[in-house]
Amino acid sequence: MQFFLDTANVESIKKFVSWGVVDGVTTNPSLIAKEGVSLEKRIKEIAEVVDGPISSEVIATDAEGMIKEGREYVKWHKNVYVKLPMTPAGLEACKVLTSEGIKTNVTLVFSSSQALLAAKAGATLISPFVGRLDDISEDGMALIAEIVEIFKNFDIQTKVLAASIRHPRHVIDAARLGADIATMPPEILEKMVKHPLTDKGIAAFLADWEKVKSLQ
Ligand code: E4P
Repeated sequence: MQFFLDTANVESIKKFVSWGVVDGVTTNPSLIAKEGVSLEKRIKEIAEVVDGPISSEVIATDAEGMIKEGREYVKWHKNVYVKLPMTPAGLEACKVLTSEGIKTNVTLVFSSSQALLAAKAGATLISPFVGRLDDISEDGMALIAEIVEIFKNFDIQTKVLAASIRHPRHVIDAARLGADIATMPPEILEKMVKHPLTDKGIAAFLADWEKVKSLQ
């Protein structure tokens, strides 16, 4: 399973790249706004740090505008994936950009029918939003299960990227279900590395070592 970081914060990306656990990055307009930088500048900076897919989301809402932005984004770096909303215009843009060999990530997927349509339009990745479904008392992980099952049935090559991840259990459940990728905020990776028994074990080893250290 691949891990993507869902952030536009370069310092944070650098930190987790140093752990050797980052396969790519997803951004969205809210994450870029949080950083207060230009999209182009930040995508180029991220590309210097991570050697993997970097999703850059279109702002246009019409197909023509999305296609124009997508063609521009991919000039910034070879690893840029054009992130398109799951709308009729997004599907149209996906079809055109895919025919030009441009990689896409269809985002804001909340149903299996949307996932199937995005795959048919040629999406490289689809992003079902697990947490936002859970937030409205639906079962986000059930959606991942359904999409993975359908894509397996027809050997669909579009990758399932579990997005809107809220806690480490989401990552593990998505992994068990066979999602290809999970994109998560840096806080989730921080939580994944932690276990109280690891900390307790290190403290006990060091305390015991103190007792024999003078004999070394
Ligand atoms: C995915 O690419 C999105 O940027 C992200 O996962 C959305 O997550 P949120 O629901 O926590 O905003």
